[in-house]
Amino acid sequence: MKSEMEQDILKVLVTEEQLKARVGEMGQALYEKFQGRRPLFLSVLKGSFVFMADLVRACQLKSDVEFIVVSSYENATESSGRVHIVHDVQQDLTGRDVIIVEDILDSGRTLAFLKEYFMAKGAASITIVTLLDKPSRRTKAITADLAGFVVPDEFVVGYGLDYAQQYRNVPYIGVLKPEVYAGA
Ligand code: PRP
Repeated sequence: MKSEMEQDILKVLVTEEQLKARVGEMGQALYEKFQGRRPLFLSVLKGSFVFMADLVRACQLKSDVEFIVVSSYENATESSGRVHIVHDVQQDLTGRDVIIVEDILDSGRTLAFLKEYFMAKGAASITIVTLLDKPSRRTKAITADLAGFVVPDEFVVGYGLDYAQQYRNVPYIGVLKPEVYAGA
């Protein structure tokens, strides 16, 4: 019996098993890259909270965690084009190796803005890690250093990603039925 929430999902794009395996590989890749250093994992909320929790546990390095809350979509399926800082970082980034942890790289506006912003705060290096990459939608010249899955231009939810703040707790990446967001 599907839950009420799952009845809104058209298809599964990335299964829980695929997520676990790929996030494990990504954690290992970061472990090898940053061995002997102490990076700062910086989660871009809200969407990356599930990925962040799994990624930091898949990378057994001495490290710090930090969070920034930004918003650009404003409950619509298309980005508004503006990036708002809702809650800023609390730690000093001076001289730090910052690993930006994102759930999705779409137009690239959010990460283009954040990369500049964290460099201006004195970060020594920036590594962009995104679970999902939608290169077909890119309008900014920005690429991830490490991406989990390349996804087509479909409206994806789950594993932290929302539509109108819902579906973040779906445990896999799914495509939403168009009728759910029709008229939005
Ligand atoms: C989503 C996602 C990224 C951004 C990517 O955030 O989490 O931060 O959009 O889009 P872009 O590449 O076009 O900038 P959203 O504004 O939906 O907020 P959320 O993380 O709270 O869901």
